[in-house]
Amino acid sequence: MAAMGMILTTKLFAEAIKTRGDKVDMTTNVYPDGPVSLPFIGNKLQLGKDPHQKLREMSKKYGKIVSVKFGDKEAVVLNSMELLREAMVQKGQDFNGRPPLRLYEELASKSNKGLRLAEEPYWRVSRKIADLALKIVGHEKWEKIIEDEAKTLIATLKDVEERRFDPAPDIDFAVTNVMCTALFSTRYKRDDKEFLMLYQNQRVINENIWKNSPQDYFSFIKHLPDSDKTTDFRLAVAARDAFFHRKLMEHKSTFQHDRIRDVTDALIKARMEMQAEIPDINISDEYLELLIWDLFDGACATTSAVLKWTLVYMLNFPSVQEKVHQELQDVLGDDPVSIADRVRLPYLQASILETLRLSPPLPLTVPHRTTLSTKIGQFTIPKDTIIVSNLWAMQRDPDVFLEAEVFTPDRFIDPDTNHLFPLSSMNFQPFGAGPRRCPGESFAMMQLFLFSAFLLHQYNVELPSGAAMPATTGELQKVLQPEPFQVLLHSR
Ligand code: HEM
Repeated sequence: MAAMGMILTTKLFAEAIKTRGDKVDMTTNVYPDGPVSLPFIGNKLQLGKDPHQKLREMSKKYGKIVSVKFGDKEAVVLNSMELLREAMVQKGQDFNGRPPLRLYEELASKSNKGLRLAEEPYWRVSRKIADLALKIVGHEKWEKIIEDEAKTLIATLKDVEERRFDPAPDIDFAVTNVMCTALFSTRYKRDDKEFLMLYQNQRVINENIWKNSPQDYFSFIKHLPDSDKTTDFRLAVAARDAFFHRKLMEHKSTFQHDRIRDVTDALIKARMEMQAEIPDINISDEYLELLIWDLFDGACATTSAVLKWTLVYMLNFPSVQEKVHQELQDVLGDDPVSIADRVRLPYLQASILETLRLSPPLPLTVPHRTTLSTKIGQFTIPKDTIIVSNLWAMQRDPDVFLEAEVFTPDRFIDPDTNHLFPLSSMNFQPFGAGPRRCPGESFAMMQLFLFSAFLLHQYNVELPSGAAMPATTGELQKVLQPEPFQVLLHSR
């Protein structure tokens, strides 16, 4: 029996194992090289739980552009900044699609895919509406919301001073509350039923998606009955839809054109303007509801992961923490920080950037899809290939960064001026590049700055005695997260 199994497996492997070059005409076209893949599961076993790291290893053997199979789907992974810029910036339109992955489709089936999962022509409309709405709300309003929440966080932490605790739930709550306030003017208490329901549904959705879910990459799974997890996922998606529908309806019934309260109001206003411009696309309520969720979901896990990483690096590098605190003390004294202080706090800013360099929350960006047969360098990439940018590998590229693996905030500071180097000169793209670059970048940077400044001004963050130093490798869930860790806060 075992022998038969072996023979069958060997036959299947023999049929399926092929170099990627077979896909295209080798006389004129060359497909990137990559490891051999197995039938059905592709390179899944080689990619394991930390695909960003494994893909970097592969790039040492096959070059900075590597072809792999995610399940039975062809993918090309970019491991250098030049490749990222060529594909996403210079040839942005060729690489602007999103692959039709099954759970993704279910998340966005109702309304032409919101923003993150949308394709042309809907993506362009969604993107314009989102950019316009974020602009309408403006930086001042965001700053106020973040400041209020950061102050509340500091007050909450008073209760745990001098006691060891896991900071993750407090950070997650604060960041989620910033988004709820900014999006629909609801600021929750920790035990609010609506908040707990929203949080729980997000958790279920995130557990099922964004990390090479089997349903997304293995076509054969669609022939199997749904697992309990898939059923839970569908229930969570339905609850999400009901929640964001309710929020939009509440806003529509009280909307005033000249009194924009939050992003949802701004989206309603932006829709009116865009609808007049693009009458042939119906920007329905469902379309807008998914857009609100896209902004919510795009913001929460990413931003809170970076704040947790900031604490991890401060614990690992106490001399950096001391220097950040000293800078805050010199510049602010006992005054609270505001966003206007940013330029006077280059070392704090550099520490945040260095955290984003070494631990980007999306080490592999949201997958793109080639919308036509195109080229990167000498390689031909067929239409409908999945394209993934390995930001984690790019931002640790030893050809680009001196001592690339070492946490060194100073690399971002021009020693002659004590200002940050222009980021465009730093080969640094934690928010992606090109037309699909993150629309929330400036709000995320505001949030990272204000939360970090409030925390590190007020507290010395220490490792509790006997606790293991949290590793800087982390684990890739929906985003790259530090493993659970504990801290001890001493008031300064
Ligand atoms: C530290 C925080 C954040 C990081 C590192 C980050 C990073 C990224 C990256 C790498 C992408 C993918 C770009 C691509 O597809 O090539 C992305 C897309 C996106 N992000 Fe962010 N993001 C952050 C915060 C935010 C915030 C605060 C918002 C909302 C206000 C947001 C909303 C989105 C949306 C809607 C997309 C999809 C854009 C599109 O497909 O056109 N993100 N982000």
